[in-house]
Amino acid sequence: MTEVLVLNGPNLGRLGSREPDIYGSASSADLTKSIVDAAESLGLSAQVRQTDDEAELIRWLHEAADAATPVILNPAAFTHYSYAVRDAAAQLTAPLIEVHLSNPATREEFRHNSVISGVATGTIAGFGAASYVLALHAIAGLAQNVTE
Ligand code: DQA
Repeated sequence: MTEVLVLNGPNLGRLGSREPDIYGSASSADLTKSIVDAAESLGLSAQVRQTDDEAELIRWLHEAADAATPVILNPAAFTHYSYAVRDAAAQLTAPLIEVHLSNPATREEFRHNSVISGVATGTIAGFGAASYVLALHAIAGLAQNVTE
C-alpha cells in the first residue's frame, strides 16, 4: 500500500475556530479523519501531521525525502516566505502536491506568491478539505502512471 505523508504547517491545528468564514467550521481532527478515510478508499495509507514549528516541518520533509514517500503539503504561511521549507521540499523524489484550503490567489497580495510551487509536482487550492482529497487522487493516479 502506498504511504502518503500529509503535512500541515502553522495555525492549521486551529481549524474550526480559526477564521471559519475562510477556513470552514471543520476541526483539524475532522480534516484528518476525512483525509485518512479518503486515502483508504483510494488504496493509500495517509499519515497526517501538523506543526507550528518550521524546523519540525523541515525534519518531516527530510524523512519523506529519505524514504521516497509522496507528500501532500499545506505549508500555510510558510508558503509565502520560507526558503528553508522550499529547499527541504526540493529534496523530495516522490510526488509533492501543494494544497491550500482557501485560494490564496484571491486573497491579500502577500499570499499571491508561493515559494513552494516551483518545486511541487502540482498545486490544488480553494476547495476546502476537498483540496486534500483531490491531492490524494493525484497521488493515486501518479502511482498508477495515469496522470502523466
Ligand atoms: C493556507 C493559505 C495561507 O495563505 C495561510 O497562511 C494559511 C492557510 C490555506 O490552506 O488556505 O495558513 O495555506
